[in-house]
Amino acid sequence: MIDNPLSAIDPSSLTIWQALEKAALGAQSRTLSGYFEQDSQRHNNFTFSAAGLNVDLSRHHIDEKLLAQLLHLATDCGITEAIAALNTGQTINFTEARPALHCQQRLPLDSEAIPPEVAASRAKIRTICEAVHGGLWRGFGGEAITDVVNIGIGGSDLGPRMAAQALSAFHNPAVTVHFVANVDPVDLQQVLAHLNPATTLFVVASKSWTTLETLSNASAAKQWISNAAGNNEATAKHFIAVSSRPDACKNFGINPDNILPMQDGVGGRYSLWSAVGLSVALATSAEHFEQLLAGANAMDNHFFGCTADNTAGSDMQHNVPLLLALLEIWYVNFWGARSVAVLPYNHDLRLFPDHLQQLTMESNGKGISRDGTAVSYQTCPVVWGSAGTIGQHSFHQLLHQGTQLIPVDFILPLNSHTGEQAQHNHLISNCLAQSQALMDGLSASSIEQSLVTDGLDSELAKQLAAHKSIPGNRPSTIISMHTVTPATVGALLALYEHKVFCQSIVWNINAFDQWGVELGKLISNDIYPAVMGHENTLANTATAASVRAFRKVLND
Ligand code: F6P
Repeated sequence: MIDNPLSAIDPSSLTIWQALEKAALGAQSRTLSGYFEQDSQRHNNFTFSAAGLNVDLSRHHIDEKLLAQLLHLATDCGITEAIAALNTGQTINFTEARPALHCQQRLPLDSEAIPPEVAASRAKIRTICEAVHGGLWRGFGGEAITDVVNIGIGGSDLGPRMAAQALSAFHNPAVTVHFVANVDPVDLQQVLAHLNPATTLFVVASKSWTTLETLSNASAAKQWISNAAGNNEATAKHFIAVSSRPDACKNFGINPDNILPMQDGVGGRYSLWSAVGLSVALATSAEHFEQLLAGANAMDNHFFGCTADNTAGSDMQHNVPLLLALLEIWYVNFWGARSVAVLPYNHDLRLFPDHLQQLTMESNGKGISRDGTAVSYQTCPVVWGSAGTIGQHSFHQLLHQGTQLIPVDFILPLNSHTGEQAQHNHLISNCLAQSQALMDGLSASSIEQSLVTDGLDSELAKQLAAHKSIPGNRPSTIISMHTVTPATVGALLALYEHKVFCQSIVWNINAFDQWGVELGKLISNDIYPAVMGHENTLANTATAASVRAFRKVLND
């Protein structure tokens, strides 16, 4: 039997689950505005703060009693023990027999608990940044590096790419950082087309060092450097590797001095905080990277501090990641929501939903419980989104008048780095307006009335009003912060990491493995030779037929 340190409790078998099913029936007949009418202090009572973030949950179908029931569910599912197990490095990723060590990566350097390999990695990141930003890291022609290309995919791309974009106001003028992930050669070629090989440094990030996309792009990049330098030795100056398999990096031809090891216990989608974050430090500075880690660590202190048995910290009712987790479980498991939208009202945070898709759906996109049986309830919803106000002119139509319940997270930095605060304030007013329109909607009767007042024929007004009416009563969260800084970006990301963890505990699944991604890769390895023109002995008749057809198109 796989050793699993966490209890495997089927949440749907719990009495509190049945009670929540009943409570949902009642709650579905109530209005959000009704909660505000009943509680003049609702905004204050349902706004929580942690690590520089303010999280307004007042526009949700909850009151104190419902929240207590949801917290009861979490307690009955063993949330306190699970949070302690995460915090103490137990092998909670039991199907891979690993702990989940992402929080350790962001411990303060002066913390007694920081593992020496983590401190060493942070020191190496600082050394590399000083060399590159200081113009001391020279290419094969003796020129200083001007461009860095991070080659990686999934967790070795989405997190760093998101953070580097989010921190554009802190970019270091000495270098420009680019990201390449796709196996489509267009991705690499489009980046290299604007770069000079003599002044380009590659950071190849791959925890497993087995990922096809990354190794293909890294090989092409090596060839690009060798061609330009006229020898292979030059690559030693132009490549850094980040991986949990340093030996494989060496065999690939990476200079051993330029290899930054990762710990096995750090999952790809949780690896921004490790040496995988090197590209973020190079895009900004080692100091800004430390601030990013500190912001996440502040959220860890809140999360680990807010547990039932913590006398020092406050209690579970103020544990913000847990509250966000339970609210989504409320809508997914008791209201039938199947997707959630995350809408950052900030251009620099536009890649945040992309990163969250991997973080949430690769973590909780599972149907097998911790004891190996199939779950009988919904788990992870589809997570999607894009930057506000862009979505307002596209999918917000569905959010307001569609038939699905889609809880929305608005992410709202209040202050702008641009100095154009007046224009920026349109983001704030539009974000609040969208949240209000979701909450209040607009009734057909009020529309009909105003159409008639405007002189429209009453029958026509009635018909038109039906189409213009907006149901409302749709929930949303507003996560605001003063400004986008390394610390608030770190805190925001850690907030969602812990939210995802709490959901995995209630849904009784393992958030830290991703076995489901392997089958497609294996099948592709079988298909590739046939696509390349080798004998097509593929067993799957559909695939075999497609390959024959595609080969014909390619050869004609
Ligand atoms: O295929 C999924 C995955 O394994 C992700 O979990 C991971 O973040 C990504 O591929 C990249 O993996 P690596 O960093 O090992 O190249």
